[in-house]
Amino acid sequence: MNPEKLREDFPIFQEREELVYLDSAATSQKPEQVINALQSFYSKNNANVGRGLYELAGDANKKFRESRKKVADFINARTDEIVFVNNTTEAVNLLAHSLELEGNIVVSEIAHHSEQLPWRRKAEEENLELEYIPTENGEFDMDAAEEIIDEETALVTISHVSNVTGSEHPLEEIVELAHRNDALVMVDGAQSVPRMKTDVKELDADFLVFSGHKMLGPTGIGVLYGKKDLLESMEPYKVGGGMIRSVKKDEVKYEEVPEKFEAGTPNVAGAVGLSAAIEHLENVGMKKIEKHDRKLCRKMKEGLSGIEGVKVLAPEEDTYVVSFTTDFAHPHDVAEILNQNSVAVRAGHHCTQPLMESLDISGTTRASPYLYNTEKDVEKLVEAVKEVKRTFS
Ligand SMILES: Cc1ncc(COP(=O)(O)O)c(C=O)c1O
Repeated sequence: MNPEKLREDFPIFQEREELVYLDSAATSQKPEQVINALQSFYSKNNANVGRGLYELAGDANKKFRESRKKVADFINARTDEIVFVNNTTEAVNLLAHSLELEGNIVVSEIAHHSEQLPWRRKAEEENLELEYIPTENGEFDMDAAEEIIDEETALVTISHVSNVTGSEHPLEEIVELAHRNDALVMVDGAQSVPRMKTDVKELDADFLVFSGHKMLGPTGIGVLYGKKDLLESMEPYKVGGGMIRSVKKDEVKYEEVPEKFEAGTPNVAGAVGLSAAIEHLENVGMKKIEKHDRKLCRKMKEGLSGIEGVKVLAPEEDTYVVSFTTDFAHPHDVAEILNQNSVAVRAGHHCTQPLMESLDISGTTRASPYLYNTEKDVEKLVEAVKEVKRTFS
């Protein structure tokens, strides 16, 4: 894989030659293939979907259908198991609203707020017990999970890859443990789907949620995957046009899945853009992207750990993002000096305040690479952190 060459597809790196973009866990940059797909859709195919009888509407329908198929194939699902939503956050809210549960909900302390808050609200509103799997030095604790997940558990929610430590969680074991106890599993794939080959059949999770904008796609399009029988058993969380079979004054019949969950005009262009993003990722190769991201994170950890006063918050194993704290500057100050060196990173609690609380820190600085980052970018990051140290010492 040649990231120098891959960068040429991303107009932002031509506009901002100095930019070292290491905030892809927040959102990825967009290749011209995706930007062009959006422009082409609006220039040539734009019409509303599911309604019009004219040729142009047929074209828009076809594009929308093909995009759903592209997403389904990408994660080895059926097309009627793919619900288009705005983002990961909306997918979790949809599920928490529509899934009927009898029993406890288990979330992890490491979960992003978007993964945990909808379930917390459901637990409060429906008087369900909610339990947290604790972390051990910021790492998911499988032994604790074994104790907490039991026959009282109705649902377990877990991210595949942490957006703070970048570590991969033992999904196979968690899914097996949950299913052994007749519990459902929702996997937050916001960080994993963009950088790892994901196969929902192999994973056997009941639900998977992810966002298009973190995987080269546009903002405003995300995906809820659910096993078909489960989606069919759920009531829609929003109702309106586009999701009904018939409406009489005294009776409403809903469409089949997935349309049942897509009331209102969907983000058709977003779906088309996501499809182009998937094509781009597949052309590069998911295995190569995964290997590349892991390699850059290893290099980052090596470089950053070599600076006295820097503590990298990462396990021994390979990670997909790198978070660190320093004993010489607040994460916001680190990010500001890095910014002055054209290095874009994220600083703060990363929407994981319970995790920060358990680590007894207010936040970290996080660097997250993607396919367009080079080893030179990592070197610039490490040099810039050395400058932070010089500035604050
Ligand atoms: C692990 C994880 N889950 C959920 C989200 C929420 O994603 P979105 O803001 O696209 O809904 C994020 C975003 O950073 C994330 O990293």
